[in-house]
Amino acid sequence: MAPTPDFEQMWRDLAPVGRSASSGGYFRQPWTAAESELRSWFAEQCAARGLVVEIDGIGNQVAWWEPSDPRADVPGVLTGSHLDSVLDGGAYDGPLGVASALAAIDTLRARGFEPGRPLGIGVFVEEEGSRFGRACLGSRLVTGATTWDEARELRDRDGVFLADAVTEAGHDPSAGLLSLDRVGTFVELHVEQGRDLVDRGVAVGLASEIWPHGRWRFDFAGQANHAGTTRMEDRRDPMLTYAMTALAANKQARLAGQRATFGRIAVEPNGTNAVPSLVTAWLDARASSDAGLAEMVEAIERQADDRAGRDGTSLTVTAESVSGSVGFDAGLAARLAGLGDWPVIPTQAGHDAGILSDAGIPTAMVFVRNPTGVSHSPDEHAETADCLSGVEALADVLAELARPGAPT
Ligand code: GLV
Ligand code: MN
Ligand code: MN
Repeated sequence: MAPTPDFEQMWRDLAPVGRSASSGGYFRQPWTAAESELRSWFAEQCAARGLVVEIDGIGNQVAWWEPSDPRADVPGVLTGSHLDSVLDGGAYDGPLGVASALAAIDTLRARGFEPGRPLGIGVFVEEEGSRFGRACLGSRLVTGATTWDEARELRDRDGVFLADAVTEAGHDPSAGLLSLDRVGTFVELHVEQGRDLVDRGVAVGLASEIWPHGRWRFDFAGQANHAGTTRMEDRRDPMLTYAMTALAANKQARLAGQRATFGRIAVEPNGTNAVPSLVTAWLDARASSDAGLAEMVEAIERQADDRAGRDGTSLTVTAESVSGSVGFDAGLAARLAGLGDWPVIPTQAGHDAGILSDAGIPTAMVFVRNPTGVSHSPDEHAETADCLSGVEALADVLAELARPGAPT
């Protein structure tokens, strides 16, 4: 059998897929050609390791390394992450967890490890919600946090329904979704998206919690009118209401020590010489507690409403994707932290791990140092040596969880 590619070779193979020649960032949106190439890549990598990949009706994938003792068909340990990216994203967010999972299996085999329970690698679709607006859509669907009937009607920026995008990509949603019945524990390795590990001077850490976060669509409606002939005092300009709201959100978050971002807007009719009729802007808000998040979003909404009253515009706010706070299994984190003296740190980024944890599956996350903390950007980075430390750490974690006789 041909040797399986090592981590560095896998990383080189992945590098060109979905990469923009102009920015160097990645466009790996779900149910597009780039993502489909990544899905095939994953299936080939599993096949090269003698692992059979199951794919569900929307493109979630899983491959299990079965224990040789059939009596060991007890709840398994799943690792993995996602392969999709945000628009113009980095190389590491998602794929690092998948390539590291494959490399960790190789490491375990090279160590002569025999799993005492099934050990799986999973890939969840549309983790970023970059196309259909719902974060962690694949894992939400498999855990039942979102139903297919709710999701199928979602539309992307071009108005394509989710159900059509999935079908056009060659999947059959009626074939059903991945079952998590075999999953006793989930572990996701991820590039760190902040500066905690680099500031501590360590390559690897574990997650304690995910901040609650969400996305709210703000529709600011006004009146389209001529940019030259309409006196300033006669305008009903929704761009002004939006602009003030963006400033208010920033101030609110700073005052409360939380996070608020308007990173996406759509303007109608989007003409230079017309006052716009509609500005739609998406607020991404995150806070250290559920109550803090609700308070901040309410305050932003209140200020936007007040300003709309003064501008003669109107505002509608719609919650599109909200995730409550996630506290990862503290006992599991403490048990695993002892394997490497790894710090246990919170994160403000969302992950499929949070969704599986919410579904009652004991879950842990392994973070790999990011030297700048920059993420969701072409500049996202992790040094190869740290990625290799991550692979070793993940192998140690999987060995601890899947060794014969390990507590469930
Ligand atoms: C996902 O990476 C998110 O936190 O938005
Ligand atoms: Mn991610
Ligand atoms: Mn991300």
